[in-house]
Amino acid sequence: MGQRGYFITFEGQDGAGKTTQMKRLQQALEERGYCVRMTREPGGCPISEQIREILLNIGNDEMDGVCEAYLYAAARAQHVRQVIVPALMRGEIVLCDRFIDSSLAYQGAGRGLGVERVAQINREAIGEWMPDLTLYFSLDPESGMQRNATGGKTLDRMEAAGEDFRARVRAGFMELAKGQPGRIRVVDADRSLEDVWQQVLSAVQEYLHLSRT
Ligand code: TMP
Repeated sequence: MGQRGYFITFEGQDGAGKTTQMKRLQQALEERGYCVRMTREPGGCPISEQIREILLNIGNDEMDGVCEAYLYAAARAQHVRQVIVPALMRGEIVLCDRFIDSSLAYQGAGRGLGVERVAQINREAIGEWMPDLTLYFSLDPESGMQRNATGGKTLDRMEAAGEDFRARVRAGFMELAKGQPGRIRVVDADRSLEDVWQQVLSAVQEYLHLSRT
């Protein structure tokens, strides 16, 4: 079997511009001859996309935080086994829009379940498959919400959760980034598209280069 691929995740709050930059990175890596698999959470395969619908449905306002944490982990368990691991075993680069750090920040910090408890819930779901590199798009969450509003996007259940919740999620992400500077690279998302792109590219180039030496 050939070399295992690379698992790169994109994290940050809504409206931080992750998806746009992911697409650009996919194109840049493909031009350099890499085989790239782009995917997202919650979702990425039919069963997990169905779980996504339950999670984001604005009508499910009775959902308990523990139920929410398990549903994200359940979607992840399927996605890891059906999509991420097979692609990595084929030697591909997996670019994933959100992964476990979103659970730690949104359910652990945002919902107040605690980071350790949410990590425990996810242990069985992800096994050994932690990301090799995580790009955290750092942006004031209210600017992110404003960007989305300008784009005319309607709010889903998570986006409707309120300003205090978003502030706790932001603090959660910053704490995670501070605790794992080797894996999590902070991208200042409050810059022009081009500037953010340069930050993304240099973090990924540095990682791919380092991991080959
Ligand atoms: P998005 O695909 O538009 O980013 O929507 C996913 C929403 O779900 C987003 O608000 C973040 C949230 N989320 C969690 O709360 N926990 C998780 O583990 C993941 C993957 C996403």
